[in-house]
Amino acid sequence: MASPLFFLLLLHSAFLVSTSASTTSLLNQTETLLKWKASLDNRSQSFLSPWVGDNPCNWVGIGCDRVGSVTNISLPNFGLKGTLDRLNFLAFPNLIYFDLGNNSLYGAIPCEIVNLSKLTFFNLSTNDKFSGSIPTDIGRLSSLAILNLAGNQLSGSIPSDVGFLNSLTNLSLNDNNFSGSIPASIGNLTNLSFLSLFNNNFSGSVPTSIGNLTNLSLLQLNNNNFSGPIPIEINNLTVLEKIKLSNNGFTGYLPDNICIGGLLKHFSSENNYITGPIPKTLRNCTSLERLRLEGNQLEGNITEAFGIYPHLRYIDLSNNKLYGELSPNWGLCHNLTSLKISNNKVSGRIPPELALATQLTRLDLSSNQLSGEIPKEIGKLTTLVYLLLNDNQLLGKIPSEIGKLVYLQQLSLAKNNLVGSIPEQFGNCFRLLHLNLSNNLIEESIPSEMSKIFALETLDLSWNLLTGEIPQELGGSRALEMLNLSHNMLFSFIPPSFDGLKSLTCVNISYNQLEGPIPLTKGFLHAPFDALRNNKGLCGNITVLPHCISKSQKKSSRGLVILIITPALGVLSLLFILVGCLLLIRRKKSEIKEHQFRDIFAIWGYDGEILYENILEATDQFNSNYCIGSGGYGNVYKALLPTGRVVAVKKLNPSDDNQSINLRAFESEICALVDIRHRNIVKLYGFCSNAEYSFLIYEFVERGSLRTVLSNPEEAAELDWDKRLNIVKGLASALSYMHHDRPSPIIHRDISSNNVLLDLDYEAHVSDFGTARILKPDSFNWTSFAGTFGYTAPELAYTMQVSEKCDVYSFGVVTMEIIMGRHPGDLISNLCTPNGQQMLLKDVIDQCLKPQRRNKVAEQVVASTKLAFTCLHSNPQFRPTMQQVYQALTTGRPSPLPKPYSMISLGDLIGHGHGIKG
Ligand SMILES: *[C@@H]1O[C@H](CO)[C@@H](O)[C@H](O)[C@H]1NC(C)=O
Ligand SMILES: *[C@@H]1O[C@H](CO)[C@@H](O)[C@H](O)[C@H]1NC(C)=O
Ligand SMILES: *[C@@H]1O[C@H](CO)[C@@H](O)[C@H](O)[C@H]1NC(C)=O
Ligand SMILES: *[C@@H]1O[C@H](CO)[C@@H](O)[C@H](O)[C@H]1NC(C)=O
Ligand SMILES: *[C@@H]1O[C@H](CO)[C@@H](O)[C@H](O)[C@H]1NC(C)=O
Ligand SMILES: *[C@@H]1O[C@H](CO)[C@@H](O)[C@H](O)[C@H]1NC(C)=O
Ligand SMILES: *[C@@H]1O[C@H](CO)[C@@H](O)[C@H](O)[C@H]1NC(C)=O
Repeated sequence: MASPLFFLLLLHSAFLVSTSASTTSLLNQTETLLKWKASLDNRSQSFLSPWVGDNPCNWVGIGCDRVGSVTNISLPNFGLKGTLDRLNFLAFPNLIYFDLGNNSLYGAIPCEIVNLSKLTFFNLSTNDKFSGSIPTDIGRLSSLAILNLAGNQLSGSIPSDVGFLNSLTNLSLNDNNFSGSIPASIGNLTNLSFLSLFNNNFSGSVPTSIGNLTNLSLLQLNNNNFSGPIPIEINNLTVLEKIKLSNNGFTGYLPDNICIGGLLKHFSSENNYITGPIPKTLRNCTSLERLRLEGNQLEGNITEAFGIYPHLRYIDLSNNKLYGELSPNWGLCHNLTSLKISNNKVSGRIPPELALATQLTRLDLSSNQLSGEIPKEIGKLTTLVYLLLNDNQLLGKIPSEIGKLVYLQQLSLAKNNLVGSIPEQFGNCFRLLHLNLSNNLIEESIPSEMSKIFALETLDLSWNLLTGEIPQELGGSRALEMLNLSHNMLFSFIPPSFDGLKSLTCVNISYNQLEGPIPLTKGFLHAPFDALRNNKGLCGNITVLPHCISKSQKKSSRGLVILIITPALGVLSLLFILVGCLLLIRRKKSEIKEHQFRDIFAIWGYDGEILYENILEATDQFNSNYCIGSGGYGNVYKALLPTGRVVAVKKLNPSDDNQSINLRAFESEICALVDIRHRNIVKLYGFCSNAEYSFLIYEFVERGSLRTVLSNPEEAAELDWDKRLNIVKGLASALSYMHHDRPSPIIHRDISSNNVLLDLDYEAHVSDFGTARILKPDSFNWTSFAGTFGYTAPELAYTMQVSEKCDVYSFGVVTMEIIMGRHPGDLISNLCTPNGQQMLLKDVIDQCLKPQRRNKVAEQVVASTKLAFTCLHSNPQFRPTMQQVYQALTTGRPSPLPKPYSMISLGDLIGHGHGIKG
């Protein structure tokens, strides 16, 4: 028999198993971490360079319990690249907290993690590249509270074992490639408060057990392929604040008691197949801030379906089958910015009470059955940007009060029964891009004031009863791309000024009484016969029209018109800054070819060319007498324009690089910068370039740069502590705004005392924001632009990665410079030495200022210095964000001094474990 041998073998393998188990539990944690570090790419290893020695407990990102066993591994935002394959989790049986979010790690999630019975926090979000699926026995992580795998390329379905994760409060799987349906076992997770599954390929219906998640406050299922009804058990979720079900295939009715808990703020279920009425409980749901139900098949009478929502900002009910009338209640939603009920069957009048909702920026009631007049109260909605009332049955005259809507960009009143004339006040809506009054019964002539709408890109006045001549001023609307004047009763000649409509690509003047030559511009020259037909006698050098006979007549009349127009435009241009940007982008698209000499005038409305000449004149062709400074890219000149305005002109050094500038990117950048308004940022008015000169035009700031002021003893003495601290605050405010409050962050890259300008009140104005990237668009090749020596962050020596944190470092240097009255120089590198740390703050600060007796200011100087030191941390991850800095500087009084001011040393101001390097 072989049984004894078999027995022996069994014994042997059992022994093997037990030894391997015991050695794994004793796996050397130091060795494991170092092995993993070695498996990462070189840059990651340099970020982890403090990982040396045999005690990981004081390494960056590692935490241990009392007996030295690793409990925390926390390296979010560390720029790490590599896999987790070498990180043997069995070496960390006591691991509680694991955070590698926001890195560039990839590969699979190791299965060994399921053995970490103490793990409560697990975050691999936003690594972009983790792939594979969730381990099926994930349920063994019985302590897990937070599981965040969002923002990767994970696939497969949610294992039903997830139902064993009783402690889970936060499950975020959004932005992956997950599929399959939600397991019913999810109902077991009664502690769950966040469930984010959006942006995946989940399908099937949502299990009714979701109604057991009574602690759920956020439910995001949007952008998947879910189908079936929304489970009515959602009614049981009384603490829900945000529900997003948008862009799925949900059917059936909306849950009746969706707002039963009274906490619901956001509900979005747009673009599904939902039918039935608006739930009754929504009327009382005063907590609502955002409601999106557009693109469904909702039916019912909305006259009394909605109440008054003090917090409501955004509501969209478009593209449904709703009927009834608009409630005056909408006017009482005082925070409402967007009201969209387009494409339904709403009838009745537009209630004048709507004008009480004075925050409205978007009002879209198009494609309904509204009747009556447009209430003139609409002129009170002065913040409107979009006003769409087209495709209704509105009557009466167009209220001239629309001229008060100076922020309007899009106005459509088309397809109604409006009568009367076009109010000349429309000319005040100078930001309008799209104006459509077609298909009405509008009479009289086109008011010449329309030409004040510089930015206008599309103008449709077709199918009306307009008469008279086309105003020659309209030829000044140089941004115009689409012009439709067809089916009216316009007569006489097309004004020669129309030759200037260079952007015009689509034109239709058919069915009028026009005669004479067509303008010599692309839009007309390429127009098909149908766009010109049925007029009285148009001619031109194109195939579809007869040739013109008398050319000399036409020329002389054109010369006259230009003489009249030009001076008028010169004045207007300074009133309507900026609008030229858009126009310029358009013009460049068509006119500029690569490797060709370029003219760019991205400025001041549309007559950049005039301004260009004015500036050359004002500076006597950049004569050195007008030079007021020099910077990295060239000299700065002061120019007094004919209008009396003073501007600073930065003339760029000619450089071969100009050829490599990506024009489109360049122009959109300039436009973005031109749009910025912040009291601590020098306003950029525009940019001019041609073969001869290229220059940026800035607001003129009287006192010049902070460096100049600090280096002049008299002026520096003027700059007392209040003023200095205010400059630090201003600089922080500017940086915080550019980093955090813009649609996309803008990094300065060259903050130095040379770029901080002071006005007459010593208020800081940061100059040159964004220009580094414009002028050196090759942003990966950082070495080609090294910032200003003494201000650049240390990591730029070894990485190419430019982040906001580089600006934070430079901010730290400038702040020290303001406090010390001179560039801190070696002080920063000495801070990590005992000598440096023993230095007293009072000896370091600017000696030309009187010793500070007032305690409040002393506290602020100490706090600012301390803050500056955190900004100078050698590891960018540990520097605060500018938002945090700004908040620290502005909220309340800093903490009292730990000891008398005169005894505070620099060492006292450095945080623990601080790694300052020069
Ligand atoms: C773990 O490994 C490190 C480095 O390899 C070594 O110095 C240390 O003594 C080891 N510790 C144990 C407990 O084996
Ligand atoms: C729910 O949790 C309980 C207790 O942990 C467990 O016994 C049960 O099997 C779980 N149910 C599901 C469906 O996961
Ligand atoms: C949901 O709760 C009900 C009643 O409390 C219970 O019968 C059911 O088993 C639960 N479902 C799940 C999946 O936990
Ligand atoms: C959950 O909702 C269902 C259907 O609306 C209801 O019958 C049930 O009583 C609710 N359960 C709880 C625990 O409230
Ligand atoms: C709305 O609230 C009022 C008063 O609080 C109450 O009388 C009414 O029944 C509520 N309506 C609904 C549909 O909940
Ligand atoms: C209205 O909006 C403002 C600004 O967003 C906010 O501060 C305020 O709290 C809002 N009011 C209500 C009642 O929600
Ligand atoms: C809608 O409801 C209002 C009052 O709630 C009523 O006066 C109106 O006739 C209804 N409209 C339709 C079309 O049923």
